[in-house]
Amino acid sequence: MSKLKLSQLSAFSRAESHLRQQTAVGGVVTVLGALLALALFWHETSHFWRLHAVTKLSVDLELRHDLPINIDFAFPAIPCAALSIQILDVAGTSQSDTSAAKEMDIHKARLDKSGKPTGEKEYVTPKSESLVDTGAMGEVMNVNIPAAMKHLADVEQEVGRHEGCRLSGTVKVKRVAGRILISTHKLMVFQLFPQLLGEHRVPLVNNMSHSIHHLSFGPAFPGLVNPLDHLQRILKDQLLSFKYFLKVVPTEHHSRRGKVTETHQYSVSEYALPVSVDSMGSAIEFNYDLSPIVVNIDANPPSFLHYLVRISAVVGGAWALVCMVNHHIHALLNIQPSNWVHIDASRMNGAY
Ligand SMILES: *[C@@H]1O[C@H](CO)[C@@H](O)[C@H](O)[C@H]1NC(C)=O
Repeated sequence: MSKLKLSQLSAFSRAESHLRQQTAVGGVVTVLGALLALALFWHETSHFWRLHAVTKLSVDLELRHDLPINIDFAFPAIPCAALSIQILDVAGTSQSDTSAAKEMDIHKARLDKSGKPTGEKEYVTPKSESLVDTGAMGEVMNVNIPAAMKHLADVEQEVGRHEGCRLSGTVKVKRVAGRILISTHKLMVFQLFPQLLGEHRVPLVNNMSHSIHHLSFGPAFPGLVNPLDHLQRILKDQLLSFKYFLKVVPTEHHSRRGKVTETHQYSVSEYALPVSVDSMGSAIEFNYDLSPIVVNIDANPPSFLHYLVRISAVVGGAWALVCMVNHHIHALLNIQPSNWVHIDASRMNGAY
């Protein structure tokens, strides 16, 4: 009975030194193999360090509440007083900057003729409308005539100075389909009661040239692209109204450090409609709707252990390949080791 020796378990069988020999072909193959292994090692390592994200889609099962919209728009040809922002949605919300809307945190900065901030205080829209809850009858719009008259006077004054306006801030809307309407002359009361105007005339402001510095739904994360950012539409000869249709996609981003950002991405299409020169007002409309699919972006890299496994596989594989190629080349060339016999013979000579 033969005893199992520890050395018999060894996977590394060693050929006797006189059976081993080095050939030029073997050297070339080894160098090529080493280069291959190095290239693969480099590829794996750079792959490990590069930022990558895994994106998953699923139906949004979260119970969510409000949708924050961050805006920053500039209108070089519309004075702040004449510009109004209004939110309308299928849930029945109707709020604007002329009513004291709580969910609207919008600031209006005055711009001069050349589009630079005038440095004056921000324009505060007179609150000419207010919603009054009457109980049984629901909410009723109340109009404040003195505020509306002040608003009109502001418009006249600012139009005369060729002012522009930068509109920025955040509005919170319900998570239903809706639209943000940025228009001139939301001076409803004068449309309803033109006799109130008296001597005054509502000036024509309908050049809806605009720059969208920023439009996003929620906080940003690295790699987020807002397709409308830095868009500019300057109307040279034809006056247009604009409609943007946005599909908002809830997105959860997990950073490398484990920080979770709940936000949204969006896709957009744009349409423009001609406006006649004498039309009272024009508008930009952002129609938004929410996607029922949530996108999960995971920026966590593969684990270090995973990286080690891959490195071992890649380098080991390259080595095995080199051995195989070496073997085949030698078999193919059928290299007769010329000095093999010689050494052997000399040894034998010595032995006898
Ligand atoms: C509209 O306003 C822009 C920016 O001030 C200006 O460059 C453009 O000429 C105006 N267009 C018309 C038709 O008045």
